[in-house]
Amino acid sequence: MDTDKKKINGFSKKTKAERRAWLVENFLRPEQEEGFLRFDASDADLQGVIDNFSENTVANFPLPFGVAPNFVVNGTTYAVPMVIEESSVVAAASAAAKYWMTRGGFHAEVVAAEKLGQLHFRWSGRPERRAALLTSLCTRVRAQTLALTERMDSRGGGVRGIRWKHLPEVSPDCYQLLVSFGTADSMGANFINTVLEAYGQELRRWATDSPDLHEDERDLEVIMAILSNHTPNCLARAWVTCPIKNMNLPGSGVDAADFARRFKYAVDIARQDPYRAVTHNKGIMNGVDAVVLATGNDFRAIEAACHAFAAQSGQYRSLSQCRIDNDTFHFEVSLPLALGTVGGLTKLHPLANMALDILDRPGAHELMGVMAAAGLAQNFAALRSLVTTGIQKGHMKMHLQNILSSFGATPTERTSTEAHFAGKTVSHHGVREYLEGIRG
Ligand code: MEV
Repeated sequence: MDTDKKKINGFSKKTKAERRAWLVENFLRPEQEEGFLRFDASDADLQGVIDNFSENTVANFPLPFGVAPNFVVNGTTYAVPMVIEESSVVAAASAAAKYWMTRGGFHAEVVAAEKLGQLHFRWSGRPERRAALLTSLCTRVRAQTLALTERMDSRGGGVRGIRWKHLPEVSPDCYQLLVSFGTADSMGANFINTVLEAYGQELRRWATDSPDLHEDERDLEVIMAILSNHTPNCLARAWVTCPIKNMNLPGSGVDAADFARRFKYAVDIARQDPYRAVTHNKGIMNGVDAVVLATGNDFRAIEAACHAFAAQSGQYRSLSQCRIDNDTFHFEVSLPLALGTVGGLTKLHPLANMALDILDRPGAHELMGVMAAAGLAQNFAALRSLVTTGIQKGHMKMHLQNILSSFGATPTERTSTEAHFAGKTVSHHGVREYLEGIRG
């Protein structure tokens, strides 16, 4: 094999057709080109929009866009848009939404909505001089960036505060400006980064010409400026609560009090044991990420923030908590959700825009509440299965269609297999045996 042919210069300059042809020639079989083409949007303008989201594109990669109806959050009924590739997640969210719909619905609130950015620099001054210099520095950087911040100020956001931290663990001359932002309904990443970079430039000028500095304090080197994805003060809380006697599981034969007790026990395990906590929180993120993706938000940012938050006590713990007070069941989650409902992909991706229409154009705070409720619903559904029937029964039932696809089942074979497995436990092996049987 000629491995040199697999190296290439100027790949990004090639047209999409040329990139595909190069891939097919060097990595695939000729007939596989069709595998890319069939996912192209028929509308050239739409395809252009999608191509511009990323670089070196060769194809679209579709994911299912589903909806979980009957989500009552703070008295409003939502059909929650969810984009996810895992079977049974949307079904589980829908079932949990319907369960809580008749038990008071979900409650949600935004505890705080602070975003953060950091400007790191090396400086020759002494740490104790910060207190005397901070006001002069803040006045300078804020005055010089008014043109960048005034629109955000008028939308209720902007720079909320600046702290000057010393990081001697890194180096005796290492400092950080920790800047607190409000970004209204936008996620605000570009706004924050633009302001921080402008702060960096002004900081250099301040070090050079400020009359407040002594000569031996003028050596300053900006290292980097970027938002922080750790957003513990951009927090949404969602909860459900009802009398334990109402925690019945229709058709299951499971006693309501027994269910509530086992449920709380399972959450308590995830509060204490990190191995269980990671899986537990993954279940929460099944719901959260699906709404994040559907609404064109940044799932890597939300994932990073939520897992950092889960570990903020020094031990990784469950993001949700459960308590039983005087025969009342209470289940809640707190999640750092730095998201937006305007700007970025929320505007550019036609389906993200549609998802926001389905949600009736929420502001960022309202979406934070809905998203936290979706995470809680997902967690409720997973634990409900885990402490009663086990997860596989429902999951494999939903997964049956994927198994059938993997065996190339015809529509008739699908109908027959579905009928055969109704009420039975589905397994990959069982489906194969059944198909072999009917195929003869
Ligand atoms: C699977 O995607 C998610 C679960 O593992 C979550 C959990 O165990 O709580 C079912």
